[in-house]
Amino acid sequence: MSKESELVQRHFHQHTADFDSIYSGNKSAFRRFLDRRLRWDMQARMEMTIAACQPIEGKSVLDVGCGTGRFCFPLAEQGAVKVVGIDFAEAMIDEANRLSSQKGIPESCSFECTDILDYQSTKKFDYILAIGLFDYLKDGRQIMQKMRQLTRGKAVMTFPRADTWRAPIRKIRLGVLDCPVYFYNEKRIRDHLMITGFAVSQFQRVGKLFFVVAE
Ligand SMILES: C[S@@+](CC[C@H](N)C(=O)[O-])C[C@H]1O[C@@H](n2cnc3c(N)ncnc32)[C@H](O)[C@@H]1O
Repeated sequence: MSKESELVQRHFHQHTADFDSIYSGNKSAFRRFLDRRLRWDMQARMEMTIAACQPIEGKSVLDVGCGTGRFCFPLAEQGAVKVVGIDFAEAMIDEANRLSSQKGIPESCSFECTDILDYQSTKKFDYILAIGLFDYLKDGRQIMQKMRQLTRGKAVMTFPRADTWRAPIRKIRLGVLDCPVYFYNEKRIRDHLMITGFAVSQFQRVGKLFFVVAE
């Protein structure tokens, strides 16, 4: 694993509770207010991802960099035949398993602690998700290639936009925490997807991110 990946893995292992509080709301009223104002696109990307994975009944899903599994749960509840969440940060997977038991999520949903580059599957997935993953990859092409091998259907992805006033602030904030972060423009994303053999079917700007579906 590269030095950069080690930093990302350590960051998310150490900041699992803080990251998940964006979904759980387990934080001060002021921070919840800030999330509503500044991170509304995270809720939007959740709704758009679920919509992009329709029809879901009887389909299989691989969520790459699943974090605490927040995207896996509704897809399993809506009738996916198999949902696998993978993440290389152990604390994220522990929390995904804990939440899954707490919520009574169907057994069709499972989690595995692994680097996507080491993940093997005998069957291809109908949908593959990479939500908030490319933010932490200096060069996402290797992972896009791996995603392409693992899917026979759609890839649903988000990328943080380079042209927002929040990008440099986020770079500094995560830099202080020793976590690398990268930003994208439309041309770079489209070039990467073309090189790795994906055809773009949806490309949308949503707040400070790009929401992309490719087949
Ligand atoms: C910002 S979190 C997003 C979590 C989740 N997708 C969400 O949107 O709620 C990014 C996650 O990607 C994971 N990650 C980054 N690179 C990875 C890799 N090469 N293999 C597996 N997981 C990775 C990190 O550990 C982290 O939990």
